[in-house]
Amino acid sequence: MMSVETKPVVPYKDQQSGKKEQVAQMFDAVSHRYDFCNHFLSLGIDKLWRKKAVRILQKHAPKSILDVATGTGDFAIETLRLNPEQVTGVDISNGMLAIGKEKMIKKKCDHIIKLQYGDSENLPFEDNTFDACIVSFGVRNFENLEQGLSEMHRVLKNKGVCVIIEFSQPSKVPFKQFYNFYFKNILPIIGGWFSKDKAAYTYLPDSVAQFPYGEAFVNVLNKIGFKNTTCKPLTFGISSIYVASKE
Ligand SMILES: C[S@@+](CC[C@H](N)C(=O)[O-])C[C@H]1O[C@@H](n2cnc3c(N)ncnc32)[C@H](O)[C@@H]1O
Repeated sequence: MMSVETKPVVPYKDQQSGKKEQVAQMFDAVSHRYDFCNHFLSLGIDKLWRKKAVRILQKHAPKSILDVATGTGDFAIETLRLNPEQVTGVDISNGMLAIGKEKMIKKKCDHIIKLQYGDSENLPFEDNTFDACIVSFGVRNFENLEQGLSEMHRVLKNKGVCVIIEFSQPSKVPFKQFYNFYFKNILPIIGGWFSKDKAAYTYLPDSVAQFPYGEAFVNVLNKIGFKNTTCKPLTFGISSIYVASKE
């Protein structure tokens, strides 16, 4: 049987390099403007989504947390409300990590939150290390999604919890039409102006359109071996929070 291979969505379509390299290059390029663009273009809703995800984590009272694709560390910072002993953030963009490290020093939480270079597809940690593994708006950028999720499963302790926030696709009319128009036509223009990297805000809607969401993403998590997997759509389905456990 012939297999139909979908080409990975990459930020810079005219370059030969792979998705991982291009994603790191793109986030390095926008790192200085990332936080501003994120909060401005989402009208601050991204902060509410991270807060909601942390409320879900609360009942698990994790002491050691791994924030994969931490970027500038906003999700890691939000987990401080849980009084963790140690939060580790990994990312492949040194530019994003540099901004994040400055932020941790300014917020005087650099003794709890440690940011370091690390690839989700080859995490530099022992098996069964963390009580919780979290990712916000990161999994869509992985070059190999299943490999990244398997690594998160591996480094989680038994009964550890995984919480993932990722864009999904609204389905309710007329919100769906209105949102799709904004996301595909307006956001790339405004995002391009502010970030000075038009490709980053064309890549955003393109990568969301191609990424599995809802039940399809739950199925991927289950295939990896996660248990008790749930999906909670947020704000008309613009994003979703996925929760899954190891065992
Ligand atoms: C949209 S940003 C999200 C950052 C942060 N989690 C947040 O909520 O603002 C996506 C991040 O994923 C990182 N990333 C992409 N692929 C990665 C990989 N294979 N390993 C680690 N980080 C990765 C990018 O460098 C980028 O910083």
